[in-house]
Amino acid sequence: MDVILFGPPGAGKGTQAKRLISQLSVPQISTGDMMRAERASGTDLGKRFESFMSAGKLVPDALVLELVEQRLKAEDAEAGAIFDGYPRTIPQAEALDSMLDRLERKIDVVVSMEISLAEQIDRITGRRTCVGCGHIYHVRYSPPPSEGRCANCGGELSQRKDDLEEVVRKRHEEYLANTAPLLGYYGAKGLVVTVNAVGSLDDVTARIRDAVAR
Ligand code: AP5
Repeated sequence: MDVILFGPPGAGKGTQAKRLISQLSVPQISTGDMMRAERASGTDLGKRFESFMSAGKLVPDALVLELVEQRLKAEDAEAGAIFDGYPRTIPQAEALDSMLDRLERKIDVVVSMEISLAEQIDRITGRRTCVGCGHIYHVRYSPPPSEGRCANCGGELSQRKDDLEEVVRKRHEEYLANTAPLLGYYGAKGLVVTVNAVGSLDDVTARIRDAVAR
């Protein structure tokens, strides 16, 4: 099954994608996580991502496609994937359709997670992520253990460089200009199911499960 978790920054795409992996038995493909991994490894590709990401701008399509094409060839993605933060533009959506077509697959559902800008800022500025396993915390809503280390792996927790309020506002503008139009693209194919992304983690997971099972 191929599912897109769609929504603005901070909607909870990454958090919910990790919760769906075991249910759907397919991996999460997060272009944001893949780009941060390239940056952390100091690769040439990672250095090219740096200026766009820290300014809250989208990385050019050509650089993104290369990453996704490689990732889709991996064995664990043979039966499908949960796309998180991808596609972000109409050309990316068209490219994904072509890649899946070559694999004789197609997007089954686009879950559109709705949340206000005020909620996005509140969530993102309080986010902390484990550098070891990628587990996502929030200082108030899903607080890490008191000793400040990841409950899963004991890893250090860090705050993303692009999680400052002014960068979040820029990311939101990019979302409205370039990514929100994808709702029309997938809507025309009858693939979009809208869910309220505000509520407890379990409630939002249940809504997404219902959307995926429709
Ligand atoms: P990316 O990493 O994809 O970021 P994003 O889409 O902006 O989304 P976030 O990761 O900020 O939010 P999320 O929806 O995953 O929320 P999360 O689950 O973490 O992209 C970053 C940058 O990379 C882009 O700006 C761009 O430069 C580049 N990029 C990436 N992909 C690209 C592409 N395809 N094309 C071009 N450029 C690309 O949750 C947020 C917080 O809220 C957490 O603290 C969490 O604990 C909390 N939370 C989650 N759910 C709830 C809940 N129900 N109640 C309370 N708190 C909650």
